Amino acid sequence: MRDERPIVSQVDGRLEARWPGDRPGTGIASDFSTVAIGGRSALARMPLVRACGVTLAREGASLVDATAGLGYDSYVLSRAGFAVTAFERHPAVASVLADGLRRAGNPFVLREGDAIDALSALQPDVVYLDPMFPPKRRASALPPKEMQIVRALVGDDLDLERLFAVACAASPRVVVKRPAHADPLRAGGAEPSSSIEGKLARFDVYLTRR
Ligand SMILES: C[S@@+](CC[C@H](N)C(=O)[O-])C[C@H]1O[C@@H](n2cnc3c(N)ncnc32)[C@H](O)[C@@H]1O
Repeated sequence: MRDERPIVSQVDGRLEARWPGDRPGTGIASDFSTVAIGGRSALARMPLVRACGVTLAREGASLVDATAGLGYDSYVLSRAGFAVTAFERHPAVASVLADGLRRAGNPFVLREGDAIDALSALQPDVVYLDPMFPPKRRASALPPKEMQIVRALVGDDLDLERLFAVACAASPRVVVKRPAHADPLRAGGAEPSSSIEGKLARFDVYLTRR
């Protein structure tokens, strides 16, 4: 873990975050043109989409991504058909994501702020959580450089249990991305109803109204 704080600046028409000593243009931006998605059936096979619900996606169900980061998972979920509202509470990360969204024609809605404060008023069909995990993990959608810079900006998500509890109260379906080797979240006695294995991560599905 590096001991310096990333800087955020506009370079060649896009907002990027980079380490202070690095050359402008080598930082991380939110760039959805780098996401290989394929067609409708390829999307429906993706573990992320299967965990959130292929039928729900096709029905245009509402989904809150409560941990947006640079928005890659939100982007995939919106392309699958979900009406996505994404929350990002760190101002620098939110501004990099807002810039990427603008360049991509706003495929989903971004709200800067804490999802904990907003979820109960929204009552979405699905809540998706991809919190920061302790270092060593490679489960996030973000590749390592992105992950390192986002981590240096936001630190750990220490209030994850609270976010999970609020999500379970607000929605009948909560999906949590975990590193393949990590235990599922069990706060408040919750148990996943099912789990879907991805290449680097596992998606635990909680059906909260059974
Ligand atoms: C691991 S990153 C998410 C990566 C994301 N899935 C992607 O595809 O780019 C986690 C992000 O969630 C944000 N976050 C964590 N808890 C939050 C909360 N309660 N409300 C809003 N944002 C939150 C953090 O600031 C961090 O940027």
